[in-house]
Amino acid sequence: MPSPHPTILAPSVLAGDHACLAPAIETAANASAQWLHLDIMDGHFVPNLSFGPQTVADLRKRNKTLYFDTHLMLANPDKHIEAFIKAGSNNVTVHVEPDYDIAETLRRIRTLGAYRGIALNPGTPAEAARPFLRDVELVLVMTVWPGFGGQSFIEDTLGKIRQLDRWRAEDELAFRLEVDGGIDLQTAPRCKAAGVDTLVAGTAFFKSPDPAAFLRAIETPGD
Ligand code: DX5
Ligand code: ZN
Repeated sequence: MPSPHPTILAPSVLAGDHACLAPAIETAANASAQWLHLDIMDGHFVPNLSFGPQTVADLRKRNKTLYFDTHLMLANPDKHIEAFIKAGSNNVTVHVEPDYDIAETLRRIRTLGAYRGIALNPGTPAEAARPFLRDVELVLVMTVWPGFGGQSFIEDTLGKIRQLDRWRAEDELAFRLEVDGGIDLQTAPRCKAAGVDTLVAGTAFFKSPDPAAFLRAIETPGD
């Protein structure tokens, strides 16, 4: 089905220079990105550590207008949502896999003034997100196992993407459908054809010789 939303590319600063992320945010803004993807990792839910709310707050000081798309890869996401929203996150996406009260956490995200997202690892079926589809603005399908940038796109996530897109149309829902991991000029059109409207790219965007052209190629309708 065609998505109800225009396509957005969200550059992931995970692929930037972590000793100095300011140039990464400038690269995204100069390429006319509207969103910036922030990957938060705790070394428990995923086998890597990234950065926390202080970094998000400092990035927010550098740029007041980018939509901060915040992906919490945490064993206890419920403990940290408020800190990220206070730091300037526009949305907060939490995974379905850890053991916590997901419905209550989504309610709190909205009450605290941010938009809500639910994320699925590559091994998690679409059905796991179904109870929450009416209560989120975004569904994130991981197209690599989360933890590291620069991995290859996992092909068999496309079936899950199509399923979520079908439910969105059948149930007249309006969540954005986002993919994250291994997105480049080859994989992006295939995801878009499957119903995706929101694409995260770390390596392919920041290593591109022309990030603005990369962004335009992905956001242009019809491919
Ligand atoms: C992986 C992260 C991704 C990552 C994508 O755990 O959630 O957002 O930055 O990076 P690339 O685009 O390099 O696969
Ligand atoms: Zn991510």
